Amino acid sequence: MVTITQSSDNNLLELRNLSKLFPIYVKGVVRKTLIGYIHAVDDVSLDIKKGEIFGLVGESGCGKTTLGRVILNLLPKTKGEVTFDGSKIHELKSRKEELWFRKQAQLIFQDPYLSLNPRLTVSGIIEEVFIIHNRGMTKKERRERVNQLLNLCGLEDYHALRYPHEFSGGQRQRIGIARALAVEPQLIVADEPVSALDVAVQAQILNLLKDIKKRFNLTYIFIAHDLSVVRHISDRIAVMYLGRIVELAPAEEFVSKPRHPYTQALIAAIPIPDPTKDRKRIILIGDVASPINLPSGCRFRTRCNFAKQKCSEEEPKFEEITPGHFVACHFPVELTESLI
Ligand SMILES: Nc1ncnc2c1ncn2[C@@H]1O[C@H](COP(=O)(O)OP(=O)(O)OP(=O)(O)O)[C@@H](O)[C@H]1O
Ligand code: SF4
Ligand SMILES: [Mg+2]
Repeated sequence: MVTITQSSDNNLLELRNLSKLFPIYVKGVVRKTLIGYIHAVDDVSLDIKKGEIFGLVGESGCGKTTLGRVILNLLPKTKGEVTFDGSKIHELKSRKEELWFRKQAQLIFQDPYLSLNPRLTVSGIIEEVFIIHNRGMTKKERRERVNQLLNLCGLEDYHALRYPHEFSGGQRQRIGIARALAVEPQLIVADEPVSALDVAVQAQILNLLKDIKKRFNLTYIFIAHDLSVVRHISDRIAVMYLGRIVELAPAEEFVSKPRHPYTQALIAAIPIPDPTKDRKRIILIGDVASPINLPSGCRFRTRCNFAKQKCSEEEPKFEEITPGHFVACHFPVELTESLI
């Protein structure tokens, strides 16, 4: 079996055995006591290729945001390594190195409103980025660049003098995208960038993200809990379950030939546009196990319709079963008919 991690010049990002645990304490009479850890990200190894859109899906609480934040060095890792364009990002020491990485990799938020300073105009918000990262620019150059970025993101010059609360959700997301682009990054981690928007606005923002990706040759990690959003935009898709990546495949194959029982259930839950068509549903039994007390063996076994003795005894390895298609399951299921 081939493992997923093969260093190559084509990789922008390499994750090796990356983990993030959050300690849990209870308050005692005298002091707080550590009672365990939340395994938010657990031993994830992945390569993200230059120029790809990498979709990351999974239920609420499975660790998607934590993984994105650890990759961007916004949260310290517990274990493992993240290498970006040849540099180990958790080993960056000087402010100059940290600023370099912040320029290379940007985050787009689910709710951009929370990340936009309400006391600054849009111009001020974007100019602030230039003041930190591009000190040589004159005020006039900064203003011109703000207008260029706003136009690129579908906003007008006059929007520059408005404040965040004067915009709709979709427009705020455009401002967030313009601000991310201001540093000319290589990588964008988009954390549920459209899940707070109406369906029509979602499509506009997805189109904008696709346009700027092509134009600036960007690489995206596109996080969502909704597979129907990710499947149309991604080159490859990975699914996370309780901190682990359990399946990864090229997007088309991911939706047409899922092999992990969890992925199959997620795909079977994608709404189909034609209400007259019948579709096979897969009902998952039980609840998601606790990220604190993980089950033995396969962590999906408490909900899996195919679980056998081995599943409680041995943790399945994340292995390549066909070229580019990786699954962590002792008994990957082959479907006889498509779910979609
Ligand atoms: N700062 C933190 N301190 C303690 N626990 C945290 C912290 N951030 C996240 N967690 C826990 O880590 C786990 C993963 O959370 P995370 O936010 O990464 O999930 P997610 O997949 O992004 O979920 P959602 O789809 O709801 O955004 C959850 O159990 C969460 O409660
Ligand atoms: S290893 Fe077993 S329990 Fe886990 S997904 Fe595969 S069949 Fe289900
Ligand atoms: Mg999240």
